[in-house]
Amino acid sequence: MKLKKNILCIGAGYVGAPTMAMIACKCPDYKVTVVDINAARIDAWNSDRLPIYEPGLEEIIGKTRGKNLFFSRDIEEGIRQNDIIFVSVNTPTKTFGTGAGMAADLQYVEKTARQILEYSESSKIVIEKSTLPVKTAQAMERILSSGKGNITFEVLSNPEFMAEGTAISDLEHPDRVLIGSHETPEGLKARARLVDIYARWVAPEKILTTNLWSSELSKLVANAFLAQRVSSINSVSALCEKTDANISEVARAVGLDSRIGAKFLKAGVGFGGSCFKKDILNLVYLCQYYGLPEVADYWESVVKINEYQQDRFIANILGSMFSTLAGKKIGILGFAFKADTGDTRESPAIYITRKLLSEHAHVVISDPKALENAMIDLACEEGQISYVEDPYRAAAGCHALAIMTDWEIYRKLDYRRIYKSMVKPAFIFDGRNIVDHRKCFEIGFNVYPIGKPALCHF
Ligand SMILES: NC(=O)c1ccc[n+]([C@@H]2O[C@H](COP(=O)([O-])OP(=O)(O)OC[C@H]3O[C@@H](n4cnc5c(N)ncnc54)[C@H](O)[C@@H]3O)[C@@H](O)[C@H]2O)c1
Repeated sequence: MKLKKNILCIGAGYVGAPTMAMIACKCPDYKVTVVDINAARIDAWNSDRLPIYEPGLEEIIGKTRGKNLFFSRDIEEGIRQNDIIFVSVNTPTKTFGTGAGMAADLQYVEKTARQILEYSESSKIVIEKSTLPVKTAQAMERILSSGKGNITFEVLSNPEFMAEGTAISDLEHPDRVLIGSHETPEGLKARARLVDIYARWVAPEKILTTNLWSSELSKLVANAFLAQRVSSINSVSALCEKTDANISEVARAVGLDSRIGAKFLKAGVGFGGSCFKKDILNLVYLCQYYGLPEVADYWESVVKINEYQQDRFIANILGSMFSTLAGKKIGILGFAFKADTGDTRESPAIYITRKLLSEHAHVVISDPKALENAMIDLACEEGQISYVEDPYRAAAGCHALAIMTDWEIYRKLDYRRIYKSMVKPAFIFDGRNIVDHRKCFEIGFNVYPIGKPALCHF
């Protein structure tokens, strides 16, 4: 098929690459190019060993790469040749200066805008795919309109709602696609071009169009609402542990109310991932900036409960293992922040491991997809750490296991075999409530779920 139209994406990360692979797959007449300043990442996208793990990703890359999907290091040429440019660069929390620890660090977005301005030889539609504070499009426009005579730039907001672990199916069957634009003739024209792309596979009623600011803000608010549900159920899990109520039963009873719904009501050791914490803190910062301290405090409490839940988990391990972990071997089952991804950014496992090391425990880390990232995350830590992919070998000789990621394989392990290989008394701290607690107790384990009575032999 002849490639009639061109699309560029700047940023070949967890969002940029899968999103563009889906567009390439659904729009075979488009030539889709993904560029990145990280040359090693581009090389990995061009190799047999993709830089990220995501179910279904290899297949979709296999179908499109080299046909109408291309990964390139040449940002300059990419900008020159493409009139539709997605910006999917990272927007981490600022670590310095004003707003440190809360505001979004927009340096990568700003650099990208400057690159677009510098290399553009024709007018462009620039699409914010990154998650950005409301009003960022205005800053982008100011940069983009600071030169270049006749060339014009129309900025759109098109935040991404896919979740890691289910990215490909989320991209293929999105709950909605959100497109924000100026409501000017030029803005509406640019918006229509982007709608045309998604309309190839997304039903029209699922393509929402709004003004730019609603679109930018909706992404932050959606993540804040999701994280809020996790913190809400986790806060109740603490009360369950004090009252012999069972968090799974409470969550089911509450979630069956159609006004509330059952999703995102699973208690655990806390949310992780690169987005929830940074996006809520970004929202908190915006509320403070706009003089809304009560609203800021409300949302900040979601992050505080998440930290509290992780502290409770550690306190539970320490308290139940006779107040000392020194010299004890603790197996961490799962290091990714959730199942079906190798991503460990903001994973609760990082915090828990650090705490265990500070108690002088020997930590054995196991994960089917995230060991390489775990090694990077813990490279500067002092203490005894081992990395063992096989969960049975990881558990052998351990005093306790802490389940940190809801990988399906951990549900189905032969816990009888594992128990035999561990030091007694053996403990399981199930940070995701995924194993059969009664069965493990009957095998001989002391079992500590989240939000349910512990099953203990002494
Ligand atoms: N990861 C998710 O699940 C998810 C979901 C929805 C939205 N988001 C948002 O999408 C954005 C990207 O997230 P991600 O997880 O893909 O990040 P990422 O860190 O995996 O990828 C970002 C990429 O951008 C590249 N980059 C930075 N500056 C550049 C520049 N000037 N030129 C070219 N490349 C540049 C980096 O090298 C990196 O490879 C963030 O704003 C994030 O909040 C992420």
